[in-house]
Amino acid sequence: MSIRYEVISEDNVFCIKDLCNELMAYQKSIAHIHPEFFDNMRFETRMIPSIKSAKANYIIVAKDGDEIIGYAYSNISPKEIYSKGFATLDCDSFFDLDSVKSHDVGCLSQIYIKEGYRNKGIGSVLFEKSMDWLRSFKSISDIFIFVSNGNDNALKFYLNKGFKMSHQILDGFIIVLRLFIA
Ligand SMILES: CC(C)(COP(=O)(O)OP(=O)(O)OC[C@H]1O[C@@H](n2cnc3c(N)ncnc32)[C@H](O)[C@@H]1OP(=O)(O)O)[C@@H](O)C(=O)NCCC(=O)NCCS
Repeated sequence: MSIRYEVISEDNVFCIKDLCNELMAYQKSIAHIHPEFFDNMRFETRMIPSIKSAKANYIIVAKDGDEIIGYAYSNISPKEIYSKGFATLDCDSFFDLDSVKSHDVGCLSQIYIKEGYRNKGIGSVLFEKSMDWLRSFKSISDIFIFVSNGNDNALKFYLNKGFKMSHQILDGFIIVLRLFIA
């Protein structure tokens, strides 16, 4: 198996629509706290609004031949967009805005590898390339990852890569992971 990695433009994001929806369904299937929160989450309500509200977006896909078998989506956004919930989720704030030194924050928003391609190092490559992109923004001091409950594999994956558990929001629906970079 020879996997190729390709950065795609925002205009071509529709090519990962199905994988994005698979990720939402997967997260719902393993969540035990408020799985119904995923009912409104799909490509059109999660990915598209994120892309539009961000200052910069980075979408990288992994391909086996012509087939896209995984992707990661990251963005740089003004921290204020996290102050009133996010996308389809209403809550007070995703994190304490005052604890973030910079005006913008980085977020590794979505990462998904198709079943059958997991545990082969592909997610790690997408993760590292996304982190390189996020770290290239000297204006940000923090990178966040929001992991939904029940996803212990993903949690372990991120903790092994240096992210720290910060806090939980929405009754434990989301675990907030954080990495200080400046
Ligand atoms: C979580 C996810 C993105 C990780 O991607 P992945 O390609 O499976 O991850 P990797 O293979 O790079 O790493 C997984 C483990 O295999 C190990 N590994 C790395 N390279 C490897 C290789 N060549 N061969 C075997 N194992 C390898 C890693 O050390 C890692 O162990 P760790 O989790 O204990 O650190 C992927 O499993 C996935 O898409 N899961 C479903 C969706 C999901 O949960 N997304 C996250 C939403 S927050």
